[in-house]
Amino acid sequence: MTNQFKLLYEGKAKKVFSHYDPDKVIIEFKDDATAFNALKKAKFEGKGKLNCLISARIFEYLIKNNIPTHFLELKDENTMIARKIKVIPLEIVLRNTAYGSLCKQTNIQPGTVFANPLIDIYLKNDMLNDPLITKDRIALMNIISSKDLDLIINLTLKINVILKNFFKNIKLELVDFKLEFGYDSKNRILLGDEISPDNCRLWDLNQKNDTIVSLDKDRFRNDLGGLIEAYSEINQRINDFI
Ligand code: TMP
Repeated sequence: MTNQFKLLYEGKAKKVFSHYDPDKVIIEFKDDATAFNALKKAKFEGKGKLNCLISARIFEYLIKNNIPTHFLELKDENTMIARKIKVIPLEIVLRNTAYGSLCKQTNIQPGTVFANPLIDIYLKNDMLNDPLITKDRIALMNIISSKDLDLIINLTLKINVILKNFFKNIKLELVDFKLEFGYDSKNRILLGDEISPDNCRLWDLNQKNDTIVSLDKDRFRNDLGGLIEAYSEINQRINDFI
């Protein structure tokens, strides 16, 4: 990124730069991968580009389905232009099937399919290790109003219906995902961050038996190998479908 744009924020997987338009930002996707709050780190050449392209396609699909998102356009393969938002410091996780931290923290068996999606809300705070949080704690900490919290929960449920169907069309099971939201300059709530195999669990449905084949960041979290191959496969399936 040329230095005519100011670096506003650097996260674990993305850099956010200023834009000529104060209502917009430039988001650069990095090749870095982290897991377990960056206890585990690696670099995968091409991951930034794949996540940027996948996210752009999914945001466009969500926008077509009337979901308000921060996405505006792709700038190049690993950079997008987005509406500038003030990020709400909450990570909204929706789970259709039990896996990951849920199974480590409870006795719910991995692979249990839920009749209704489970919503888990985490405080976005690396210093505190993103703890699971309650509605009452959110109110006490004055993070957002209960009306806006209900609004983002309802948006998450709506996004799940759209994405579950989208991924089913390309033979992927949407196991769970994490979303972030924010307020734009007109105080509208928009979906932010990214939607990619970094923050969605996606299992291959092209399997003859019940073996779980993860095509997402679990390949790195669980040392399965083949991360770039998995992300490329998702990108390919999306491009063939859209
Ligand atoms: P978990 O099983 O580790 O709680 O993860 C649930 C989903 O949320 C999974 O799709 C990965 C995603 N996620 C993130 O995107 N960022 C995070 O920091 C964490 C903990 C999970």
